Amino acid sequence: MSTKLTAASTKLTAASTKLTALSAMLRAESLHHHVATGEGPLTLLNNISLQLARGESLAITGASGSGKSTLLGLLAGLDRPSEGRIWLAGEEITAMDEEQRAALRSRCVGFVFQTFQLLPGLTARENVMLPSELRGERSAAKRAGEFLARVGLEHRLHHYPRQLSGGEQQRVAIARAFASFSGDDGILFADEPTGSLDAGNGEKVIELLFKLNAESNTTLVLVTHEQRLAERCGAHLRMAAGEIKAGEADSGSLSEVSI
Ligand SMILES: Nc1ncnc2c1ncn2[C@@H]1O[C@H](COP(=O)(O)OP(=O)(O)OP(=O)(O)O)[C@@H](O)[C@H]1O
Ligand SMILES: [Mg+2]
Repeated sequence: MSTKLTAASTKLTAASTKLTALSAMLRAESLHHHVATGEGPLTLLNNISLQLARGESLAITGASGSGKSTLLGLLAGLDRPSEGRIWLAGEEITAMDEEQRAALRSRCVGFVFQTFQLLPGLTARENVMLPSELRGERSAAKRAGEFLARVGLEHRLHHYPRQLSGGEQQRVAIARAFASFSGDDGILFADEPTGSLDAGNGEKVIELLFKLNAESNTTLVLVTHEQRLAERCGAHLRMAAGEIKAGEADSGSLSEVSI
């Protein structure tokens, strides 16, 4: 190939990469993450690439300590990877500073933490309305009430977290995550949303996530230990020791998430 042609083809590849990154809801390219420890640097993630279309659902599974929560936090823009690039809703979050990432998160990211992380001094409704209130939305209280009704807690609006069961607290955390972004182009990250629930409440939470996912066309990224939850997702990524486990992908589905 002539130099000119090679340059043109390189340009074209770069343009098509950019286009794919823009059209995907989530794209990660060659993520590496290291932390410094007393015994020297520790690699938490090694060469992770994935891609997810709008409205899709992805399950991330793997043994304890395999890097699932670390990956989820990076993908949601809560932290920055040591190396690699991430695009969220078409914008490159790895090129942003913390303030810009916070603005993007407030527009399109909801996060359900492994521990619910509700504020103990706020009622259920106040917890759910906090993100919209911080954005200065006047209808924050009304919207929070609507989301709590959707998770079946319209009769618990004024209860404090200590007055709620574990399952109810998790449902408040999910309502807050769905109410936390302002746009209609949302992506919800949930770290073991059923981890601390009994089977019955776990089932309810799963139904709820997929119902809200379908109703609001939200993209879902879930970390889970539960096979039945992973099976409900369109794509499934298995992790082992900070890497995507090769050869164990669900045929068809991982091709949608790998690049
Ligand atoms: N800041 C940190 N400094 C040092 N090591 C860390 C740090 N954060 C995480 N790790 C280590 O990185 C590994 C991955 O942690 P991570 O929380 O991502 O695992 P996980 O797959 O979510 O596990 P679990 O299923 O138990 O929640 C663990 O071995 C953990 O001890
Ligand atoms: Mg974890």
